[in-house]
This record gives sequence, C-alpha cells and structure tokens, in this order.
Amino acid sequence: MGEPEAEAAKRAIMSGWVTQGPEVAAFEQEFTAYVGAKFACAVSNCTTALHLALLAVGVQPGDEVVTVSHSYIATANSIRYCGAIPVFVDIEPHTYNINPTLIEQVIGDRTRAILVVHQMGMPCNLKAILDIARRHELPVIEDAACAIGSEILWNGEWEKIGKPHGDIACFSFHPRKVISTGDGGMLTTNNPEWDKQFRLWRQHGMSVPDTVRHTAKQVIFESYPMLGYNYRMTDIQAAVGREQLKRLPEIVERRRYLAQRYQEMLADVPGLKLPTEPTWARSNWQSYCVRLPEKCEQRQVMQAMLDAGISTRRGIMCAHREPAYEHETWSCGSEQQVCNCEVGKCDRLSESEQAQDHSVLLPLFHHMAQQEQDYVMKVLKMTCQV
Ligand SMILES: Cc1ncc(COP(=O)(O)O)c(C=O)c1O
Repeated sequence: MGEPEAEAAKRAIMSGWVTQGPEVAAFEQEFTAYVGAKFACAVSNCTTALHLALLAVGVQPGDEVVTVSHSYIATANSIRYCGAIPVFVDIEPHTYNINPTLIEQVIGDRTRAILVVHQMGMPCNLKAILDIARRHELPVIEDAACAIGSEILWNGEWEKIGKPHGDIACFSFHPRKVISTGDGGMLTTNNPEWDKQFRLWRQHGMSVPDTVRHTAKQVIFESYPMLGYNYRMTDIQAAVGREQLKRLPEIVERRRYLAQRYQEMLADVPGLKLPTEPTWARSNWQSYCVRLPEKCEQRQVMQAMLDAGISTRRGIMCAHREPAYEHETWSCGSEQQVCNCEVGKCDRLSESEQAQDHSVLLPLFHHMAQQEQDYVMKVLKMTCQV
C-alpha cells in the first residue's frame, strides 16, 4: 500500500460517511467487473463470508460439510459456526488442494454442502468437484480467501476465480493476501436471492439500510425480521480496496514472474519438490510452497533461513491436529464413521499431515527484487544440501 491507498482512506474519512456506504457499493461494483460475477457483497472478513455462504445454502446444526483439514482453521471453523460438522478429505500432494477422487466416499445422508479451498491461490479442480456435487445435488462453496486474481480454464476461456464456478465464492483481504483492506471479505454469487440475503445478514437483519434512511425525505422506521450479524466492511476499508484492486493485475503478473523464476532455478535441487500448476490453472502465487528433501528437517531449515535474515512459514496447518479439533469424535472421520487413528496422525489425512510437516513457504511479494530472490534460493540450496 502507498499514497493512493492513504489518499483513499482520507477521502472516506473526510466524506463524513465511514462505515458501509457508497465506497463499499463502488468496491462491490468494481469487484464484480473484475471477477465476472453478477453479484458481490462486501463483509468484514472471509471467515464471516464463509459463515454466510454456508447459511445461505442451508447448512444447519447436525449437517455435514465436506472440506479439507489442510487449510487455515477459519475454513473448518465457519462450518462449526453453523453447528455443522466438517468432514475432512485429504489433499493432492502437488497442488495442496482437495483430492476430488476422495470426495464421493464421504458423502452421506447428512452431507449438505462441499466447501473447497483454492489453497495458497492455486485453483482446485472445480470441474471434477462440480461433476460430483451436481450428481449428488450438493452446493459448492469456494473458499477463495487466497485466490483473487487466480484463473481457471473454463470451456476454452481463462476465467477469474470468483465468477463463481461453484455456487458462492468467498475472498479475504487480510494483509497476508495478495490485496488487502486491512481486514475484509467478499462474497460473489450469481444468485440474486442469496445476494439479497447476505446484505440483510451482514447488517443485523435490518429491513432498510441506513444509507437509504439517511437520504430519505420521509421518516422511515426499520425492522429486524430475522437474526442478523454485524459483518459489515467499513467505507474506509472499501476505499483502500478500490485502490488495491487497480494494482491487482500488475501484482499478479509480477508474482507469476517470480514464481516462474523459483520454478526454473530450484528445479535442480535434489529431492526438493516444487508446486505444480495444472494446465487448466493459473495461480496468483499468493504463497510459494516447496516440499523439502527427506533428509531436511522443516524447523531446522526455517531456522537456518531465519538466521540468514529470511522469513519463511511452515506448510499450511491441518485443523484436525489442533486442540480445538483433535478431541472431537468426528475430528478426522465423521460422527457415523469414527476414525480410530492416533491423535494427530491419521492415515486418511496423511498427505495433509505430510504437507504440513515437510513444506516451507518461501518469501514471495510483488516488489521482491531479483537479488533478494536469488539470495533466498542460494540460502535454501545451501541449507538443503548440507
Ligand atoms: C484458506 C483460508 N480461508 C479463510 C481464511 C480466513 O480469512 P479472514 O482472515 O479474512 O477471515 C484464510 C485466511 O488466512 C484462509 O487462508
């Protein structure tokens, strides 16, 4: 972020309208144009977006939602906010995304939806997933928290993630993401009823928005016909988001260039496994995740890099191994099919666990200089080859 974002925040502050208002409406409009969706509804973050998406498709207490454990914990948490149970499916080792061939075997009478993740910005195999979902008449929600600017080849055309190809897509604007509003989220859908519902829910279920009441020539009393939430984005955030959206194409292009450099220049490191971009996917490379050679210990590599002044992150977490999950009877099976594995070591989710334990996220940011990237690769090579 820079001067344009600071100016935009100032513009919102000086306008006299700081919470959800005209800047949010404009941001939503510009967002729909960017991803190609009919509707976009801004909310406070991606976790609240996921919560509303699950509610909209009818997820209720006791239902099951098929998803991955190998994701930021917010994915699974949003299912639990509905009183439902996440049923975890393992990932593909090279894309770090849900393995579509494992979905059908966990679909049962209580399955109400499929929540997939475009992990680290890499599009998941939506074609295969939608095929299964449509056969079982299940809605598909896309956790696109990391995937703004990513693309998928769809009927011969490159389309933006969030069009959406499933039923609803949810984005995050947390600072860890490719563009940010400080915190923030967006829901996209082509279903006008869901969009209407999101707008009510995000603002306490209020029948008439405050923007309408404040400009009315007659007194209006609003009512609250349903239980709602305060999941609003502020106009200050949206003003910043509009500037960030303008920068997005350039940011994604630069990230793709840097990822390509990693891809080419790390290809010869023995035992190091690089992420794979399927022919039908274009990642925004929100994160660049490498699988370490077997002889390398994750923490040691990360420490050696930190000692050299390079900040890395470990592979994506697994929700089922966290204390908030691991003691639930369903934590790595379902209520009906309890998994009797050792806590934190599950055969059903072994690819997810290995990805968490043996991967490292290398630095990648769009203003990263080539010399900085060369230095990262030099230190990684030295560390991995000891
Ligand atoms: C895959 C995924 N889903 C959901 C979230 C939650 O996003 P937010 O922080 O905007 O609530 C994140 C954030 O890190 C994420 O990576």
